[in-house]
Amino acid sequence: MSSGKPAIVIDVGTGYTKMGYAGTEEPSYMIPTTFGGNRTSSQTGAGKKDGLADLDFYIGKEALAKQKSYGLSYPVKHGLIENWDEMEKYWSQTLYKYLHCDPEEHYFLLTEPPLNTPENREQTAEIWFETFNAGGIYIAVQAVLALCASWRSKKSLSHELTGTVVDSGDGVTHVIPVSDGAVIASAIKHIPVAGRDFTNFTLNMMKTHDKMPAGDALQVAMKMKEQHAYVCKDMLREIVAFDASPKDYIKAFTGMNSINHKTFEVEMGYERFLAPEVFFHPEIYSSDFVTPLPELVDHTIQACPIDTRKSLYRNVVLSGGSTMFPNFAKRLQRDIKRLANDRIKYSHEKSGGRIPMTELECNVLSHDKQRYAVWYGGSLLSSTAEFATAMVHTREDYLEWGPSICRHNPVLGIN
Ligand SMILES: Nc1ncnc2c1ncn2[C@@H]1O[C@H](COP(=O)(O)OP(=O)(O)OP(=O)(O)O)[C@@H](O)[C@H]1O
Ligand SMILES: [Mg+2]
Repeated sequence: MSSGKPAIVIDVGTGYTKMGYAGTEEPSYMIPTTFGGNRTSSQTGAGKKDGLADLDFYIGKEALAKQKSYGLSYPVKHGLIENWDEMEKYWSQTLYKYLHCDPEEHYFLLTEPPLNTPENREQTAEIWFETFNAGGIYIAVQAVLALCASWRSKKSLSHELTGTVVDSGDGVTHVIPVSDGAVIASAIKHIPVAGRDFTNFTLNMMKTHDKMPAGDALQVAMKMKEQHAYVCKDMLREIVAFDASPKDYIKAFTGMNSINHKTFEVEMGYERFLAPEVFFHPEIYSSDFVTPLPELVDHTIQACPIDTRKSLYRNVVLSGGSTMFPNFAKRLQRDIKRLANDRIKYSHEKSGGRIPMTELECNVLSHDKQRYAVWYGGSLLSSTAEFATAMVHTREDYLEWGPSICRHNPVLGIN
């Protein structure tokens, strides 16, 4: 158990914010990172005098439900906070409306994407200490937390802090190598595609999508994607198998129009396996980036110091909602293995046998907390004694030194 104040973990993602108490198994709340502010009062100035306009806003599902009158915005884009004013309001509701806590009485573990700037950290510190009077905060790197979470996996050899994290959420897919708890920043790679794109791809491919009311279409496509999409072994063979017996593949969904309450039916066909296939054949979605994910993982590891590469191949760790497609881990592992072993074979032949032909060990790890691995890793870390004694920046530290104490955060496992 940690000393100090009880800790709360808040992982703000592009799509969902996960929040809950340290040491618990799953977040108490997982709500969309959506914000709806009252357009009328902010445009006309009504309510401004008494400050009520500032309080007239909704977050999460409520913001989605009220989007017609309140408008809808997303304060986080591709993992980074873009609208600080909305983010501050959003955080205030997570504290007072969801967690019902007095921030002075708690330490908070917040998360950041790779390559977050020191200025962003300072701004976060200012909001948490000046506006919320937090008892203490620590900003942890999402990939390192995902690595801690992977200790759940049966395949995890020991409590290693070296591994390659593949984090795919709603707004971005990152491949992040971590060595002894520190991110190897120069080798990080990303593709600008994740869950939101798979949902759009699904929606555009659904033959019957015009039957859906415009306001419901995205939610329906997202639900169908989450329930029915899967990763196949081989795209062309799967198309042939589909064409031979479509009825074995097609999934139907009956929904209700939220405006006129009439029922509608839509079907999901090829898109069940073509949406996640974008990871492996990105050219079917966009011509802007064409490197398949397994190649990106291989390139990332090859860009790391040679003495870390073996461990990085051995411990590829998954994190985030868009790694949840059935068979994703298996296919990724198979394809990375193929690429790496082909290269070893090539070097072996090119060197006339001087470079030995050794088989590379490559593991892609799945586990039961993968959906919210970053949050879960935060829950583990913030319940250790080290968190309260050596990691968190307390309110007293802040008052003495100012926001710059959060420019850089102590790295886990390095003493
Ligand atoms: N079972 C599932 N299969 C496929 N996709 C899923 C599944 N469950 C959730 N998702 C998708 O995962 C995405 C959300 O994942 P996650 O919560 O990890 O993202 P985030 O942390 O909000 O975003 P980011 O990490 O990009 O900032 C959504 O697009 C959602 O539709
Ligand atoms: Mg995330």
